[in-house]
Amino acid sequence: MFGRRQLIAGAAALAASRFLMAARVTAADRAPRLAADPFALGVASGEPAPDGFVLWTRAVGLDGDARLGYEIAADEGFRSIVRSGRVDAPAARGGAAHLEVRGLPPGRPFFYRFHLGDAVSRTGRTATMATDPRRLRLALTSCQHWEHGWFSAYRDMIAEGVEAVLQVGDYIYEKSFGSGPDVRAFGAPDPLTLDDYRARHALYRTDSDLAAAHAAMPFVVAFDDHEVENDYVGDHGGVTADRTAFLRRRTAAWQAYFEHMPLRPSALRSGGRLQLYRRFHWGRLATVHVLDTRQYRSVQPCSDTKRGGQVVRGCAAVDDPDATVLGAGQEAWLDAGLAREEAGWSLIAQQTLFARLALPQGPDARWSDMWDGYEAARRRAIASLTRPTVRNAVVLGGDVHSFWLNDILADFGDPRSKVVASEVVTSCLASRSGPAALFDGAAARNPHVRYHDNAHAGYALLDLVPQRLDVDLRAVSSLTDPAARCVSLERRSIEAGRPGFA
Ligand SMILES: [Fe+2]
Repeated sequence: MFGRRQLIAGAAALAASRFLMAARVTAADRAPRLAADPFALGVASGEPAPDGFVLWTRAVGLDGDARLGYEIAADEGFRSIVRSGRVDAPAARGGAAHLEVRGLPPGRPFFYRFHLGDAVSRTGRTATMATDPRRLRLALTSCQHWEHGWFSAYRDMIAEGVEAVLQVGDYIYEKSFGSGPDVRAFGAPDPLTLDDYRARHALYRTDSDLAAAHAAMPFVVAFDDHEVENDYVGDHGGVTADRTAFLRRRTAAWQAYFEHMPLRPSALRSGGRLQLYRRFHWGRLATVHVLDTRQYRSVQPCSDTKRGGQVVRGCAAVDDPDATVLGAGQEAWLDAGLAREEAGWSLIAQQTLFARLALPQGPDARWSDMWDGYEAARRRAIASLTRPTVRNAVVLGGDVHSFWLNDILADFGDPRSKVVASEVVTSCLASRSGPAALFDGAAARNPHVRYHDNAHAGYALLDLVPQRLDVDLRAVSSLTDPAARCVSLERRSIEAGRPGFA
């Protein structure tokens, strides 16, 4: 969301950079320097489970299909190998390998690497979940714009010993948003084809902080809009008006996303769809319910004259009972999962701001691309969050390029209604702040907004124990300094049994 339309100046000046060379190698050209290392895009792990995980790499610069060797060891020196074998890296998947590993013991670290001929990938580290952990440390992140800043915050996550990274969208950006100093340029037009999107994802993986993060920690990912194009929902382009052209673009973008993420092979479904809503069970401590708020969503209300997200006023369609954010199938899945919740903490990892946000434009104004544009769908979601089986529901989100700690009310139409859940929204990892015209004064206009910061990029560090969830909003000191560090911007807690922020 939140487009700015100035073009990046000086992009051509960076055209000879190593980043552009890395992008090219996965398209038509072959840069010999990188073709020599088929594992130039690194390694990754994801989908953690008590008995396994998914391991990923993408072999680049090859002709045709490949089979990669792999080793998984209990030690970093690979003296104690627990699994080894071969995995397909098909040309039709851009050389990507998605290896689903099961049957390992719980609560252990593992080290892994891939082979092809004489080439060996870097070593990755991951872990199986403990069966019944007493504590859990997660990082919540979104919105990493290549041109807007270095990805320094990932170094902080590694240093903090994060067990899993929840990346809830805008992993890549398809376009430039210029209005200030940029640290580097895409060096390529906006992607449209599969090769274009592959090159954009490959460019991202040449960032040493992002590559190191993937090698160090499992990622749990779900896309938002910029993995395809700004503010699209379902079959409706946010930018591309022609439906056929949009669907062609979306198919290419989704496949490239799958090819670069440590997702299960089964996540890629027929017709090019991606199955991204799913659950992660950290024993009785926490369940993370990951949602997909893009793929099944109905079009933004009152968007017939202008596409995508916008401030709408007096728009009756925000109350349309047939409008949906999750789609009927995912709504039922979420409700059924919460109805049989056994964990003390129910974390709902989704893309955007869930709470009501009164805007300066007036009491009838809504930003149509957030849950505020889908009032009935939000009411249904709150009904699921307040099932008697749910002890502590915390909605996690991103997208809005600013930090928010919100109380979720039983009924946002009644400001005095009781607090039933909590919301943590992370700022962008690397991008510009959210729009001041919408967010300035937000806490004064919205009593359920307990903390708001629209001045910093960073991520949210979440520490869970049965009695408490501690939130540490980690702000990156500078987006333009590659040696930037993170500092604590705000620390707040949610006590078990007492929803909302003190
Ligand atoms: Fe974003």
